[in-house]
Amino acid sequence: MQIDTVVRSHNRFALNDEETAEVSRADRDHYTHAWPSFRSAAQTESLVVTGGEGAYVFDAAGRRYLDGMGGLWCVNMGYGRDEICDAVAEQMRRLPYYNPTDGLANVPAVRLAEKIASLAPGELNHVFFTCGGSTANDSAVRLVQFYQSVRRKPDKRFIITRLRAYHGSTIMTASMGGNPRERSPHLRYVTDIIRQVSCPNPYRRPDGMSESEFCDFLVDELRATILELGPENVAALFAEPILGSGGVIVPPDGYNFRTWQLCKEYDILYVADEVITAFGRLGHFFASKDMFGIEPDIITFAKGITSGYQPLGGFVFSDSIHKVLVEAEPQAPFVNGYTYTGHPAACAAALANIALMEREDICTHVRSEGLYFEKKMRELADLPMVGDIRGSHFMICIESVQDRSTKEPFSSSVGVGDLIARNAGQLGLIVRPLGSMNIISPPLVLSHSQIDEFARLMREAIVVTQDQLIASGDRRIT
Ligand SMILES: Cc1ncc(COP(=O)(O)O)c(C=O)c1O
Repeated sequence: MQIDTVVRSHNRFALNDEETAEVSRADRDHYTHAWPSFRSAAQTESLVVTGGEGAYVFDAAGRRYLDGMGGLWCVNMGYGRDEICDAVAEQMRRLPYYNPTDGLANVPAVRLAEKIASLAPGELNHVFFTCGGSTANDSAVRLVQFYQSVRRKPDKRFIITRLRAYHGSTIMTASMGGNPRERSPHLRYVTDIIRQVSCPNPYRRPDGMSESEFCDFLVDELRATILELGPENVAALFAEPILGSGGVIVPPDGYNFRTWQLCKEYDILYVADEVITAFGRLGHFFASKDMFGIEPDIITFAKGITSGYQPLGGFVFSDSIHKVLVEAEPQAPFVNGYTYTGHPAACAAALANIALMEREDICTHVRSEGLYFEKKMRELADLPMVGDIRGSHFMICIESVQDRSTKEPFSSSVGVGDLIARNAGQLGLIVRPLGSMNIISPPLVLSHSQIDEFARLMREAIVVTQDQLIASGDRRIT
């Protein structure tokens, strides 16, 4: 099968050849990327993204791509939204920054905290802002420890997380992560207070186990872990409602609810990491209560809160926690904060973004078009190389396998996720490779016809990859 000609649209975002060469040189010589692999970065050319409009981004040559990554799970309302840009510019002219420490406040931070409290479930009414998702989870760990200690349970210090979880890239949150690919043998992690339990991935459950037996197994394992550590030593469980970077893992039915109940039974805080799932990706401002029926003690958020227009994260915590902290003051101040806590321009971006989400009723759109997207992606399951398609609404993973009947994975040397991503890129579609998986998290504003276009390009990219692997001779795909 031939790859279609790449969609080209010379546009206002294109750079001339000289500028393009200059940017590429400076990129290689000076710009250290996130998760850099130093030698290959020096050898490969980056895709330089120069602009965006709606669900599309453009590169320096003026090529247009449907953005299947939503930036990085964050550009929920799409590119080029003047309402957000104007709100940020206006706030920066009025007050670009002011000190966020006790006794000082700025208007957008206060208004945003109130707005989040109104959107969050139950008694979650108190908001702390950080610079992104990692710092949100890092500070939430600190809040958990502080809370347990001031209520005279200082031994409650263990944090439980799951294998394949991703909670961030500070040293604490990286230590909480459960993805072996994210663990470097050259770095030291926090190990004494973190314990991990199994990944709730139904596709990779033990042979012969039904999905509901798998759920029982996971809940029993969590209970056994709590009892082994001693409930009096366990501070919190941190859990993404759907694990994102670990491969869009949707736990078995009832798992989130039952693990939340278990935490309540043993007086353990439940922290929902909604850095990806909040702000519309699953059709709700917060997914915990609306999709899974749980009311966490703390929800962490970032990404979609500003649709990526400004860096911002934070967490919202319960009245019950707050009451304990208020009663502990002033003997024990909570030592935690950042220069950019409640940054006025970032909070103004979030307020404008949320107003836009409400005005365009994006959650309703996601609950209908997101389901259509999920359906179109699931149709790709007829391709021989596709082992599993999982996810929900605009949060999808396609896992490729060598053999569908045994679920035998491709050898990592094949780089199947990279091949698919590269072929998709040639066709004008950006999807994220992750080992043998491709992760998909487009802007939520995708229209019906753009979803059809997305599905067509995705199918073509997988078919081309299959053909290439078969043609290379040494790959069997059954
Ligand atoms: C579930 C989850 N938590 C935390 C983070 C870390 O967020 P950030 O990269 O903004 O620090 C991410 C990032 O992808 C995430 O997916």
